[in-house]
Amino acid sequence: MSDFAIEVEGLAKSYGQTEVVKGISFSVRHGEIFGFLGPNGAGKTTSIRMMIGEVPFSNGKISILGHSIPSQTHQTRTRVGVVPDYQNLYDRITIRQNLEFFSALNNVSSSRVDEVLAEVFLTEHQYKACKDLSRGLRQRALIARGLLHKPALFFLDEPTSALDPHSARLIRELVLKLKSNGTTVFLTTHYMEEADQLCDRLAIMNAGEIVACDSPENLKKNFGRKSVRVEYLEHEMKQMTEYSLETTDDTGIVADLLRAGRILKIHSQEATLEEVFMKVTGARWKSGSEEVEI
Ligand SMILES: Nc1ncnc2c1ncn2[C@@H]1O[C@H](COP(=O)(O)OP(=O)(O)O)[C@@H](O)[C@H]1O
Ligand SMILES: [Mg+2]
Repeated sequence: MSDFAIEVEGLAKSYGQTEVVKGISFSVRHGEIFGFLGPNGAGKTTSIRMMIGEVPFSNGKISILGHSIPSQTHQTRTRVGVVPDYQNLYDRITIRQNLEFFSALNNVSSSRVDEVLAEVFLTEHQYKACKDLSRGLRQRALIARGLLHKPALFFLDEPTSALDPHSARLIRELVLKLKSNGTTVFLTTHYMEEADQLCDRLAIMNAGEIVACDSPENLKKNFGRKSVRVEYLEHEMKQMTEYSLETTDDTGIVADLLRAGRILKIHSQEATLEEVFMKVTGARWKSGSEEVEI
């Protein structure tokens, strides 16, 4: 068995004259949560669609669980699960009916339906028609469908986009549970904090290219800003200033404050992934719901 669940080398895709994925290479180890982080249009969905054999590619190699894509895509089908970035459940029937239909289609025992419903906390909602579901419930139903055949490798395309914080947290917890059961997870997101919290390693993608790839910790250590925020007293008033640790310019000021006994608190300021992103792309970026076009 290959050491890697996913191996991608020099993968490129063009639509017409436009190259939307520009020769990317990365590998994903068995059992890790690997993130693809990047703004809208970066090429995340296209990359997933190529890896699951849904879209042909112009150049490069893809190996999924040791099978070459696209020639051996059919051999990966029973071991790969996908939660697409759009909702494709049958709207007029219930969650349960959807799951029963897809389990029959995939030769999965119908007893598995109850298991996945419980896994994604949908048991009490199983008789609701999909058209009546909130976004959060719908997303969980999609995840349930993707898990029916107990995939070894699970792709989730922006599973928490536009979800309320409670639903998003539930999905993040589900992803962590999948990892603890040994599932390899490939996740795309444009939420920096989510990637930071969930991913063992991640690739930052921008305009079809991978501009950085490492663990969140290493990315923050290598690319981030290192500074301390100091609370101190000046004329009996509390002041707060941030000082860089990257140069020695500010260290004298901090030492003077320390000697004068005027420091109230020092907070270490860990670099955020957002700052890493700005550094590696030179782009303007805001995480969370407000996204800036780059
Ligand atoms: N079927 C398609 N035909 C033409 N262009 C496409 C198609 N699918 C995606 N694109 C383009 O490819 C680029 C990457 O899209 P996508 O992979 O969906 O990005 P992301 O998932 O990171 O938001 C975008 O510029 C998008 O407009
Ligand atoms: Mg997308």
